Amino acid sequence: MRTPLVIGNWKMHGNLARNRMLFTSLTLGLRDLQQVDIAICVPFPYLGQAQLLLSGTNIAWGAQNVSQFEEGAFTGSISAEMVADFECRFAIIGHSERRALSHESDQSAANRFVQTLHAGVTPVFCVGETGAERDAGLAKSVVGKQMRTLLDSLVSENLALAGRLGAVFSYEPVWAIGTGKHASPAEAQEMHAFIRNLIAARAPEFATASRILYGGSVNAGNAASIFAMPDIDGGLVGRSSLDADSFRQVCEAAQQPMRASAAL
Ligand code: PGA
Repeated sequence: MRTPLVIGNWKMHGNLARNRMLFTSLTLGLRDLQQVDIAICVPFPYLGQAQLLLSGTNIAWGAQNVSQFEEGAFTGSISAEMVADFECRFAIIGHSERRALSHESDQSAANRFVQTLHAGVTPVFCVGETGAERDAGLAKSVVGKQMRTLLDSLVSENLALAGRLGAVFSYEPVWAIGTGKHASPAEAQEMHAFIRNLIAARAPEFATASRILYGGSVNAGNAASIFAMPDIDGGLVGRSSLDADSFRQVCEAAQQPMRASAAL
């Protein structure tokens, strides 16, 4: 049985004072939740603050990207080893905002995934199609290419490491991110099953164990119906993670008993 996972992605929001208030509300509001793993991915400068304020709570923390290189003359870049220094449990890799705004390729996302594994941090590997690609009937071929580039880059040693670290995948249709328009549970389930099958073709046990999150306008109102789907193991949550109450409701919806009853 895969434990559901909800990861908040704060994107480029926050400052020391606002974060402190949000961390306090989150640790108080979420402390009684069980049967769901919870994490927050914060901007790089606040990793130390997350480490300080979330240590000893049931909320893990992570980064929103890492460099595809181990170290060197890469001004402005942050390596996977550096985020590991702050005891990050997770790093988001290949988010569509990175792919679109910073032109990160499928291959560079695959390289980042490997760097993350080698630093002992669990990658959260994002894939997803744009609205135009979906309208053109290309959703599966785009997501398939993103996934295959990753899977083809993983030598068996890295695949084993990904299994040990519990690597996470996240289906995030680009047209659903920050738009208030989410994929229907059936649309998301179809893509999640497709992603799981692609992983299974390479490593069946890893596919069964891997958590595949849905991301894209998840909120308190739609989370339960999305998380009730059999191949959806939780969410990657942007906007709704910036409000402690909304985020708590999304995390509650991911708890297993609620998923079971929502599925009836
Ligand atoms: P959203 O963002 O929940 O604001 O749509 C999700 C994400 O980009 O991870």
